[in-house]
Amino acid sequence: MKTEFFTINSLEDSQIFEKAGELLRNGHLVCFPTETVYGLGCNALDGKAALSVFAAKGRPADNPLIVHVAFPEDASLYCYTTPLFEKLAEAFMPGPLTIILPKKEIIPDEVTAGNTTVAIRCPSNPIAHNLILTAKVPIAAPSANRSGYPSPTNAQDVLEDMDGRVDMILDGGDCSFGLESTVISLTGDDSCTILRPGAVTREMLLKICSEVFVAEAVVDPSAVKNGAVPSPGMKYKHYSPKAEVVLLEGSREKFIEYVNQVALPGDSVLCFEEDKSLFDKRVVTISVGHEAIPEEECHRLFSALREADKKESKHAFVMKPKTEGVYLALYNRLIRAASCKITKIDL
Ligand code: TXA
Ligand code: MG
Repeated sequence: MKTEFFTINSLEDSQIFEKAGELLRNGHLVCFPTETVYGLGCNALDGKAALSVFAAKGRPADNPLIVHVAFPEDASLYCYTTPLFEKLAEAFMPGPLTIILPKKEIIPDEVTAGNTTVAIRCPSNPIAHNLILTAKVPIAAPSANRSGYPSPTNAQDVLEDMDGRVDMILDGGDCSFGLESTVISLTGDDSCTILRPGAVTREMLLKICSEVFVAEAVVDPSAVKNGAVPSPGMKYKHYSPKAEVVLLEGSREKFIEYVNQVALPGDSVLCFEEDKSLFDKRVVTISVGHEAIPEEECHRLFSALREADKKESKHAFVMKPKTEGVYLALYNRLIRAASCKITKIDL
């Protein structure tokens, strides 16, 4: 298949949006930017189109897709909403929050991988919003990476993974947040459970919900046994570049000392901007921004992991982040990228 690539310079590029919308309506695949990561979209009302999304990504058949709507009010067309959903939607939608709810008949089983629930998200990125409006159908979209690889946060990374596998890619520049949306299930009238942490943090959700639980597998992927998991995506190897990600726990000084001691020539280190000059010349330094601004690390993490592969590094060393606030999203991605292994270096 030939993949058409268009750069969106303005929402007035109506011909491109019309073309993309028509492709989607007719069962084809279009990659598009959101405020979190790029999505690989199809018509969410078309089961056959959903199956071609699984094929294009090489995605396990039991891992359901998120349905993207233009307005939070549209959610009730596709699922049974609750008063708590309304409150959360009022506070966080449009934005990087995905809520799991019982699905209505209109959503095909192929989209939800046979689940009776559907994940609903209303993206705030104007290109994503405009695309859903122009398509006139909800868009089912996983992240636009090949399964297992870090999610793409710019259109070049999408092209690398999806050239020849999708009909169109819309380039809308870098994604502002850079990690996927927070996924929650509503576990009571006034409580929810985080299945995947993201930009909408536990602390933010606590302003609306009286209790916010964090699923065990979020911080400890080894808690995922072969049995039932609240979100199928928890089971799979994720966010992994070809380089072996080595997650190190200890002080910043020890981190620098350790990497300088053990790194092979050409290994990468993901480090703070201010520490770049402290690493040995044989190590490739990839900045993840400034220490005091975790949002910079969220923004850069996936492209930094991909960068390590471009440099053909055997290892990519990363410091273990904290787990409060937005750091929980970083920690959740990194521990999976590192196949659940943390190396302690302070001892
Ligand atoms: O930010 C995002 O959410 C991006 C952009 C494109 O919107 N999308 C994304 O999709 O990250 P994906 O497919 O890579 O991740 C969706 C996650 C998976 O872990 C999946 O298992 C979970 O959401 N999920 C989807 N539907 C679910 C359902 N009905 N029940 C439980 N988990 C569900
Ligand atoms: Mg994904």
